[in-house]
Amino acid sequence: MRSSTLALVALYGAATTVKAALPEIHAVGNKFFSSNGEQFFMKGIAYQLTPDDPLVDTNQCKRDASLMEELGANVIRIYHVDPDADHDGCMTAFDDAGIYTLIDLDTFNTQILPDDPWWNQTQVDAFGAVMDTFHSYSNVLGFFVGNEVILTKNQSEAAPFVKAAARDLKAYRDNKGYREIPIGYSAADIRELRPMLQDYLTCGGNKSETIDFFALNSYSWCDPSDFTNSDYSDLQEQAEQFPVPIFFSETGCNVPGPRLFEDQAAIFGDEMVDTWSGSMVYEWIQERNDYGLISYGPEVDQTVAASNVEDGFTRSGTPTPVSPDFYNLQSQWETLSPTGVVESEYTPDVSTRDCPSPTDGWLVDGNVRLPSIGETFTGTFETSTSASDDGSAQATGTADDDDENVGNVSKEVTRTGILLGAVMMVFGFWL
Ligand SMILES: *[C@@H]1O[C@H](CO)[C@@H](O)[C@H](O)[C@H]1NC(C)=O
Ligand SMILES: *[C@@H]1O[C@H](CO)[C@@H](O)[C@H](O)[C@H]1NC(C)=O
Ligand SMILES: *[C@@H]1O[C@H](CO)[C@@H](O)[C@H](O)[C@H]1NC(C)=O
Ligand SMILES: *[C@@H]1O[C@H](CO)[C@@H](O)[C@H](O)[C@H]1NC(C)=O
Repeated sequence: MRSSTLALVALYGAATTVKAALPEIHAVGNKFFSSNGEQFFMKGIAYQLTPDDPLVDTNQCKRDASLMEELGANVIRIYHVDPDADHDGCMTAFDDAGIYTLIDLDTFNTQILPDDPWWNQTQVDAFGAVMDTFHSYSNVLGFFVGNEVILTKNQSEAAPFVKAAARDLKAYRDNKGYREIPIGYSAADIRELRPMLQDYLTCGGNKSETIDFFALNSYSWCDPSDFTNSDYSDLQEQAEQFPVPIFFSETGCNVPGPRLFEDQAAIFGDEMVDTWSGSMVYEWIQERNDYGLISYGPEVDQTVAASNVEDGFTRSGTPTPVSPDFYNLQSQWETLSPTGVVESEYTPDVSTRDCPSPTDGWLVDGNVRLPSIGETFTGTFETSTSASDDGSAQATGTADDDDENVGNVSKEVTRTGILLGAVMMVFGFWL
């Protein structure tokens, strides 16, 4: 009896040491660190096999996690999850493969809308439910309160609602006693919004109200390109001494293709590595938009109806690399292993951003009072009576601007747009 108990203890001990959970990640200054003190750089993949929640099929997660490990990925981004589902199997599968997760708290019916923004308790509860479900997994790296809510200067009045969401979800996290999981925002890389949006969300000096990280969905590096021609030089200039971590929450322009992913070498190279924390490459599954790194089978007719087929693409099974893109990314990542600084030797050299004033079409005085829970935008903000007038006079973009904006938005939002037809029609996104 005694010896069998010991044997069990030994077995249990062995099992738990082999499957140690990944060290938790936190933000300091403009960098991420793992709890063992090492700086963390993201080699990420956008992962959304099905619209509602890709983290519920454990066997599928195991197959994908294993191939992602071969690819060299260490983070996935998931845009939509179901807080009521069981995620233990998938979260463990990714943890076992050394992969962290970045999770969007909003979903199709809770996201903050750009033209008619409001922020209310229904949204707080829905975002909070996702946090309740995921906070205990040590491989959760961060949460987003929104993806590309704002696409044009004349939608900038939605920005205080995004900041209010960050404020309330940070308070929710802290009141519940959850660890300090970073909470941030994923922006469309729209040149006319730079740098006002990133500055606004991080300005004011009150940490209870600012985002913990800022991320950009940028498709401006189309191989072959370089630091200057891709516009990354401008991104870098505007991000220097950024107050919080900044990274690419989508990248991977596929025009003309095949993709070489040479931007990865720039992001982890001398010019950017002190400022940026890495990127998420869009995307894991091959579908109609042609951004896939793997596929689960050949495209089938749009009309095929099967449980794991949607929109002409199989959404589960054995992942097969899409050649040469998968291998090109793998070769890039193989050669890129930035170490950065260790936390104990890091003294943040970051700036405090000035809150932008309403000029040149950006409509929000950065010092306006943030909306409280239950508030709907009424056309003006307190302490900013002139903002609306100033902006509307200058908010009309040129036709060229419109085209560029459409080309650079999240590839994920485009798909979302099919479901949110009424909203997207406002932007003329019908393809
Ligand atoms: C929040 O706003 C939405 C949309 O107007 C509405 O359906 C919902 O009932 C509101 N929630 C609360 C708590 O007022
Ligand atoms: C969109 O990306 C292209 C490069 O693909 C770039 O030339 C253009 O300036 C970008 N547009 C905006 C609005 O940022
Ligand atoms: C910081 O923001 C929080 C949340 O809005 C607020 O309760 C607090 O009073 C602010 N602190 C200061 C010093 O203004
Ligand atoms: C907002 O700006 C875009 C171009 O940037 C334009 O297409 C749209 O009509 C404007 N919307 C309003 C309500 O002015």
